[in-house]
Amino acid sequence: MKKIRLRVNGTWRELIVDAGTVLLEVLREDLRLTGAKQSCDRKGQCGACTVVVNGKAARSCLTRMADLEDADVITVEGLGTPDNPHLIQEAFVLSGAIQCGFCTPGMIMAAKALLDANPNPTVGDIKQALRRNLCRCTGYVKIIEAVQLAGRFLRGEATPEAVRPTAAQGVMGVPHPRPSAMAKACGTAYFTADYPIRGALELAVLRSSLPHARIVSIDASVAEKMPGVAGVLTAADIKGTNVLKYLVADRPVLCKDKVRYIGDPILAVAADTRENAEKALSKVQVKLEPLPALSDPETALTADALPLHADLPNLCYDQPQIKGDAEKAMGDSAAVVAARFKTQINHQAPLEPEATVAYWEKGEAGGEDQLVIIGRSINIHFHLGMLQSALGWENMRYIEAFSGGQFGIKIDIISEGIAGAAAIHFKRPVRYIPGIAESMLMTSKRHAFDMQVKLAADAKGNLTAYCNDFIVDNGAYYSIGHVVAYRALLMLSGSYHIPNVSARGRLVYTNNPWGSAARGAGPPQINFALECAMDMLSEKLGMDPFEFRLQNFLKPGQSKSTGRVVKEWPLPELMEAMRPNYQRAVKEAAAGSSGKLKRGVGLGTGSFGIGGPGDASVAAVELDSDGGISVYAAAADPGEGNDSMLTQLTAEFMGIPLDRVRLHTRDTGNTAASGPAAGSRVTYMIGNALINALEQLKAAMQETGAKTAQELEAAGKPKRYVGRKKNEEVGPLDPKTGQGPSFESQVHAVQMVELEVDTETGKVKILKMTTAVDAGPVINPLNLTGQLEGGMDMGVGFALREEYVAGKTKDWVTFKFPTIRDSFDMEVIIRETPRPKGPLGSTGVGEMCMVPTAPAVINAIRNATGVWVYDLPATPEKIKAALAAA
Ligand code: FES
Ligand code: FES
Repeated sequence: MKKIRLRVNGTWRELIVDAGTVLLEVLREDLRLTGAKQSCDRKGQCGACTVVVNGKAARSCLTRMADLEDADVITVEGLGTPDNPHLIQEAFVLSGAIQCGFCTPGMIMAAKALLDANPNPTVGDIKQALRRNLCRCTGYVKIIEAVQLAGRFLRGEATPEAVRPTAAQGVMGVPHPRPSAMAKACGTAYFTADYPIRGALELAVLRSSLPHARIVSIDASVAEKMPGVAGVLTAADIKGTNVLKYLVADRPVLCKDKVRYIGDPILAVAADTRENAEKALSKVQVKLEPLPALSDPETALTADALPLHADLPNLCYDQPQIKGDAEKAMGDSAAVVAARFKTQINHQAPLEPEATVAYWEKGEAGGEDQLVIIGRSINIHFHLGMLQSALGWENMRYIEAFSGGQFGIKIDIISEGIAGAAAIHFKRPVRYIPGIAESMLMTSKRHAFDMQVKLAADAKGNLTAYCNDFIVDNGAYYSIGHVVAYRALLMLSGSYHIPNVSARGRLVYTNNPWGSAARGAGPPQINFALECAMDMLSEKLGMDPFEFRLQNFLKPGQSKSTGRVVKEWPLPELMEAMRPNYQRAVKEAAAGSSGKLKRGVGLGTGSFGIGGPGDASVAAVELDSDGGISVYAAAADPGEGNDSMLTQLTAEFMGIPLDRVRLHTRDTGNTAASGPAAGSRVTYMIGNALINALEQLKAAMQETGAKTAQELEAAGKPKRYVGRKKNEEVGPLDPKTGQGPSFESQVHAVQMVELEVDTETGKVKILKMTTAVDAGPVINPLNLTGQLEGGMDMGVGFALREEYVAGKTKDWVTFKFPTIRDSFDMEVIIRETPRPKGPLGSTGVGEMCMVPTAPAVINAIRNATGVWVYDLPATPEKIKAALAAA
């Protein structure tokens, strides 16, 4: 132990600490300064823990307290507060640089150290200073802009007042700061791990290191007697079904007889500290008997493969899609291309680890205590139901904390199950705060697709037929399973008019990590194959890929592969908006290639469906006593800007100031089920339910002349109105033809990539990405472009770098997380065709840029080098191998 005296945020502190204690621990646990976050298991990889020590940016997870005698430490809380923010905090808020906000405190502190030393940094200086700070949401574009704006503020060249949108500018289409942005900038927004609970048990969980095995025995007798240990939780201790059922009842909270993938949870140790829980966990003896692993769908579909789940076949979904006569049309076509494309298992990679806390709230008047779960679910009501049944406890509530991104991972229950079960078993509050390595083990992944594709056109370049036989690796558990293959079929023909289609989508259980939602969920994979085939076919026809696409877009009145006729379809306009950029890029690429460095330009397009058949949502509004409006909707906001959407739509529709809109969105106790924040559906579905509720309220106010809740009630009208949105089309695709209902709304994009390939190393450098998008009238331009920029960055990771390999991908380095140094120029072109049924004409955009980005990258590599890479990611090794083979 050592006594250390240091100054934190201007106040001298004396602390007695172990020699090895790091600053992050002291800040978060002793001083309760939770602005500094932890993502990377204290490996120095994420920068979320960055603070300023003696004027320099320091990763507090690597900074030993023993080295801090007399040091001056500034954390994000010491910089400013929401009432009195620092100019850097203002700049991050006003630039739209804050989405989920988990990286934000670290980014702001790194920027503070930079700007103190260098008041007028170049983009290169900013990238150098923030090179250790990761962000998954923004593609870094707005973070660089925020640091530049902060520099202007600090140099006195601009003021927040001059930049901040005013009420006079109106509401729709104006970049009003997100309601939660300032709290995130000042470190006062609570993420799950930031909740302290005095006396809570901390959990450590034993997970399978084998992909498939029988649990022969568990001996926890030594662990149970270790210091601080409250006990060991196994499947036998769980009172409910022990099954987390999303669509199929196959995933246990804790495994009982078998483990089915690397990471499956076997038991949990509960102790007074995480350290003691981990120590005890290392003493638990579990005997596993390995079973043959179904390593891929082909293996799982062989006749002698045993079923992974006793009562379920390994082939869990098989859906054809037939439109016209593709075989005949192929035979009659002037040009046909064929290829097999594969995509990888990938991690969605939110920066925040997969944490849950659970506590007991005293029941009223001696009633039963209520179990409260705090996590970052994006579907709190549905997940509450899953937990109630799995854990056998009815009186439960779910609260959504601020969420450090999720990108689909939180469509399903993860750490909540074990945390809730432990809280019930030990009748104590529980904190389950795993590191990022364990979070990677426990969470769902993006499904791998294997696609056999043929695409044909006539001599005039009109598409005639498309075949796609695809198999989806579902991994060990179903989760949303067939929804991903189904969505791929709904969007199979992309933006194009293809009169004849023959497809088959199959979903197969394996012993790989379980697949679930991941930004786009199906369409990014299926569109990769189609858009690469489009380039192959245009090449075969001798046509420019730009003109070939333009010629083949759907026109209103024509039908998709589902047979559904489209109405508005503004792709040609987007393509024309892209044309000057394309012409410039092609010229520059031709001029820019030299020696081993080859430049290329690639295109991809996409039309992403929103509001699927049978989707429904609900929202309630209430007139407040001051004429403001409270909105009640379980609309999660893990960073997309749903809070802004609800606020701006309400203010616009009712003609009230933004600050009189009050949101209640995060608690099952005061909302109804509005459905998941997934599938880019929140703006369209919940926004529409909100407008429906507001219409009722407005009609009542107009009828009575009431302006406040009191006046409305005095006039005999309720002050609360429930709005609904229900899609007219319902039902699945026809099981034989795959024809049937589809999405109510679409968002469209044309994507262009400019890149350079080093033909010696196979390394790809993205130079610029331009996206032209039509998502209807813009609600908040910064939120819109932020989603598109983040999607482009993630799409490039999917195309070039990222892959989750069970047992090997353990941190942000092995995952190849994109850094600010990988960031590239981005341009966004916006068109605003109102959607007839959208809320004030709008629709969602969160996943759009995942859809056309990967094929645009691969097409650009082909354009640059003449080689194709058929399986993602297109690593330097694969590109080199393709070049060598060519
Ligand atoms: S927690 Fe410090 S760098 Fe990741
Ligand atoms: S805003 Fe950077 S990780 Fe989400």
